[in-house]
Amino acid sequence: MTNRTYSPFDHLIEHLDQALHTVFGPAPRPSRANRAKDKDDAGLTAQERELAGRLMRINHAGEICAQALYQGQAVTAKLPEVRGKMEQAAQEENDHLAWTETRIRELGTHVSFLNPLWYAGSFAVGALAGMAGDKWSLGFVAETEKQVVKHLSRHLQRLPSGDHQSRAILEQMREDEGRHATVAIEAGAASLPEPIKQLMQLTSKVMTRTAHWI
Ligand SMILES: [Fe+2]
Ligand SMILES: [Fe+2]
Repeated sequence: MTNRTYSPFDHLIEHLDQALHTVFGPAPRPSRANRAKDKDDAGLTAQERELAGRLMRINHAGEICAQALYQGQAVTAKLPEVRGKMEQAAQEENDHLAWTETRIRELGTHVSFLNPLWYAGSFAVGALAGMAGDKWSLGFVAETEKQVVKHLSRHLQRLPSGDHQSRAILEQMREDEGRHATVAIEAGAASLPEPIKQLMQLTSKVMTRTAHWI
């Protein structure tokens, strides 16, 4: 048997294939059971379903960004150990992607039409962070995840009280994202400069406001 060596072109095709699968789905089969399965949303009004659908669309777009960030970083991260850790986290994000996608469909709405744009931007940012060096790319993961935990807490408050299914998904996600931040910090994440943190907050605000509508 011969061992095939992969050229940069092969890798490019592989990443392109991964990107198309992520953006145009369907999401890969989740590795864990969906906690929402034994919950119900029977008491939701049409208005509440619409709000829940919008919130879950934002969270799905956020998960598209998470995939792109991790995939972008995996391309440029230097230490194999760090690369491995990021790929593992990206795998866990697959569950989030699949669960939010399922929930969006159940609520009768669509994923964000701008997902290709969110993916491209996040991939580029992830690749840049990876290029800056491992302590910075881990710092970027830690800060992203911390901001996502705060965002999910806000969404859990805004979610209609009768939407037990979306709630179960977001609670599991919040737990996972918090753990991703801890893993990154323990692996040697640097604390990002304050202006970068603020820029990240601003960018995610633009994304969440837009994905709410389209
Ligand atoms: Fe996630
Ligand atoms: Fe995460």
